[in-house]
Amino acid sequence: MGSKTISVLTSGGDAPGMNAAIRSIVRAGIGQGMRVLGIRRGYNGLINGDVFEMNLRSVSDIIHRGGTILYTARSPEFRTEQGVAKAVEVCKDIGIDGVIVIGGDGSFRGARALSNAGIPCIGIPGTIDNDISCSEYTIGFDTAMNTAMEMIDRIRDTAQSHDRCSVVEVMGRRCGDIALHTGIAVGATAILVPEVKYDFDKDIIERIRFTQKIGKKHFIIIAAEGLGKINEITAEIQKRTGIESRTTILGHVQRGGSPTLRDRVVASEMGCRAVNMLYNGQGNKVIAVKNDKLIDYDISEALSFKKKFDINLYNEALKISI
Ligand code: F6P
Repeated sequence: MGSKTISVLTSGGDAPGMNAAIRSIVRAGIGQGMRVLGIRRGYNGLINGDVFEMNLRSVSDIIHRGGTILYTARSPEFRTEQGVAKAVEVCKDIGIDGVIVIGGDGSFRGARALSNAGIPCIGIPGTIDNDISCSEYTIGFDTAMNTAMEMIDRIRDTAQSHDRCSVVEVMGRRCGDIALHTGIAVGATAILVPEVKYDFDKDIIERIRFTQKIGKKHFIIIAAEGLGKINEITAEIQKRTGIESRTTILGHVQRGGSPTLRDRVVASEMGCRAVNMLYNGQGNKVIAVKNDKLIDYDISEALSFKKKFDINLYNEALKISI
């Protein structure tokens, strides 16, 4: 048997479904006869010893809740050698034999540093952006897309009533997955993502004019936040087409809320797998989704992948948005 006292932390931006993963880790860990400790506020909590014992009831009534009961943080201190050394000391003092880290690529780099220093770590991909290079899916993505879709449906009602163009910014600093999927789901006239260079005239203005000619009266343009300049885009559309245009930045509304069924199930599965891995003496790994199945990689391998953007889906989206 591997780890006897395991711990869990959430790191980076919170994502709906993180609580479902925590619940699964606590219940599966205790079920296997292990102690499970919760670490508050990501790696900061590990450095400061903000750690507490969890029991079966500590995770009651959280499967449906967004956010993370463990709180989360980005920890500049943990990026330093001294920070990692402090965390290792805390693990040794408390008797932590394994850490499960729920977060993104940055959090996995921390998990690798800790694993290299002798504390076995397992990473679970959790971020609404779906921007983790090794995994086709990340906890929170489905909920965020559904939230964005619902909000944009509402925006469409008012855009339709006024014959307007609504330019909506969705989250995704470096990754256009939320924009692409919600863009398809709401029938956006144009979808702007950081992965694909766009030509303002051809990809926005001409598309609006062409679809207007064939009867379209209101328009939705979806832009990933990574592109920036959303207000300028909206102003330019209004100026060039004469169509009254409005900007909406959805922002953090996409990060909160009750997780969808998919996020609850994936998170629960990943939690169980992470516990089993520590139980069996494995560490320095990241769990990922490939072809709809869970697999795992060594952390360094996981971090070496380059995130692929689904350009075929993007092209299909443009074909039917007329
Ligand atoms: O969780 C990912 C993400 O939502 C990005 O899309 C966004 O750029 C970033 O987090 C913002 O995070 P924060 O406001 O917490 O700094």
